[in-house]
Amino acid sequence: MGEAVGNHPTKKILRVLNGEPVWPLPIWVMRQAGRYLPEYKETRAQAGSFLDLCYNPRLATEVTLQPIRRFGFDASILFSDILVIPHALGQDVRFVENEGPKLEPISSEADLSRLANELPLERLESVFETLDRLKTALPGETTLLGFCGAPWTVASYMIAGKGTPDQAPARLKAYRDPAFMEVLIDKLVRASTAYLIRQIDAGAEAVQIFESFGSALPPALFERLSLDPIRQIVAGLKEARPQARTIVFVRGGGVHLHRLAEEGIGDALALDWTLDPKTVLADLPAHVATQGNLDPLALVAGGKPLSAGIDRILSAVRGRPHIFNLGHGIVPETPVEHVQDMIDRVRGAGA
Ligand code: CP3
Repeated sequence: MGEAVGNHPTKKILRVLNGEPVWPLPIWVMRQAGRYLPEYKETRAQAGSFLDLCYNPRLATEVTLQPIRRFGFDASILFSDILVIPHALGQDVRFVENEGPKLEPISSEADLSRLANELPLERLESVFETLDRLKTALPGETTLLGFCGAPWTVASYMIAGKGTPDQAPARLKAYRDPAFMEVLIDKLVRASTAYLIRQIDAGAEAVQIFESFGSALPPALFERLSLDPIRQIVAGLKEARPQARTIVFVRGGGVHLHRLAEEGIGDALALDWTLDPKTVLADLPAHVATQGNLDPLALVAGGKPLSAGIDRILSAVRGRPHIFNLGHGIVPETPVEHVQDMIDRVRGAGA
């Protein structure tokens, strides 16, 4: 990795992921390469489809670097999507303009058996090439992040074939056909672990696991479908690559955060915007790093709501290992100037 002196990293995000408080807080933004940036829209138009962009190492590297050039974020997240995993496993995945992802839904044992048993890593070679290019293109202080979706979130797209408000098709499937669900989740655990290990080998220094639909699960299913699969992925990754750092984002997982923390699942826990960091942190051991959690719409609004939202987070996390971020992805209608205002306020926070 070239930047570590002994075991003491100099990159701010890696220091936080090792449990060290860093002030001013390091900052990056979920979905930081995206449609709020005019330069993204330009490259996107050249690329063809969204998946063409994900699988084009030159253009994927370019869009990953765009927010780093413009804002100097402390982390750079690989440009790709959580749905490249079902795609590589053999499911038909498309992104329809202005509608989002469309997959050929799976529901039977026969559908499952048509999916590859082990992740064919060669189908994702272009993603690893993007990481390889980023490793040399990024400024020395920028942490390179990889990512994957958590099995439940990915499975919910694979079953419904699209995004759904409360993941009803996958939840119903979990009740009616637990055996199907178990096989699918297990396949995704193995695929995601192999994928993350390969991302680390290609140059990622830390990875974020996105459980975007954690809030949909009732307590009876949460352990089996969300917590346990994430636990297995993190354990498998750490066993294979002990230097890898992990950030776990369970959107809507507030009531379960203390369990993740107690078990040490994730070097950092990402908080969604509904959580009050003051309350959450009071319940978490001091060495557990956190990330988040400004409301993406406070960033759209700008002005007073933005500065008040930032200050509330800064005062709650002062003295703790924390990475500033949004509580979910940045939305396309976000004014670019507001992103700069946010960075200036976070970085300008007085000692
Ligand atoms: O953060 C980054 O900048 C890295 C790239 C990244 C994308 N998607 C690019 C993207 C990451 C980390 C993701 C993760 C992802 N993808 C998640 C989990 C995070 C979250 O936001 O909850 C999910 C659920 C997906 C699935 C997905 N991809 C959906 C539902 C959509 C359509 C919704 C939309 O915003 O249009 C996508 C498309 C997508 N992935 C875009 C980007 C920049 C927009 C597509 C475009 O440019 O046309």
